Amino acid sequence: MANEEKKDELLDHEADGIQEFDNNLPKWWLYGFYLTIVFAIAYMMYYHVSQDGQVSKAEYEQEIAEASLLTANAPKSSSKRLTILTDKASLEAGKVIFEGTNNLCYTCHKEDMGGLVGPNLTDEYWIHGCSIEEITQSITTGFPEKGMLPYGSNNTLTDEQLLQVASYVISKKGSNPPDAKPIEPDREIICPPSQKTTASK
Ligand code: HEC
Repeated sequence: MANEEKKDELLDHEADGIQEFDNNLPKWWLYGFYLTIVFAIAYMMYYHVSQDGQVSKAEYEQEIAEASLLTANAPKSSSKRLTILTDKASLEAGKVIFEGTNNLCYTCHKEDMGGLVGPNLTDEYWIHGCSIEEITQSITTGFPEKGMLPYGSNNTLTDEQLLQVASYVISKKGSNPPDAKPIEPDREIICPPSQKTTASK
């Protein structure tokens, strides 16, 4: 038993008066040490070789992606493509909504959409965009801080009514009403008349 014999045998060097024994490492220490090796290998396999686990960067990117999905799903930008209604009956229904007391659009945008409290909706200058998706979005959310409640008056419209009134707004593009409100500087989105999407009248 060479080991036994060597127990507590002093090594023949010293530093600042400190000497040391040449004993074996205690078992508990050794097993702890082996455990760290096993853990390190498992860790490397899981995160770097098989890549089943997500390293911090991937985890971060995933969370950002999830967060932006959340905001994308919020009312702001619906990816749903909408079709502008152009038939007479739909535009007539849209006009009734626009000029009706249920949603009060006319009170702020004026019956001819030349603008009053709200902006002119007939020319090529827009604040929030002039596509059918953007217009339905503007109507759905409203701009409460500017005075426009969701759906004008907080009275919800069905999807069909929403499309009707938005299509009616689009049908008035380029209609050039008299005494239209001048262009405010924040109306920065330009929708040229060439993009005119009016209905067959
Ligand atoms: C109480 C006044 C008010 C009512 C009622 C109202 N609006 Fe508005 N509307 C505004 C104001 C003010 C803005 C400008 C918001 C801004 O500056 O961001 C606006 C903006 C808009 C826009 C975006 C214009 C752009 O340039 O991007 C559309 C479209 C719109 N309104 C349509 C409607 C429709 C349709 C209704 C009825 C369902 C309606 N509004 C009811 C005041 C009103």
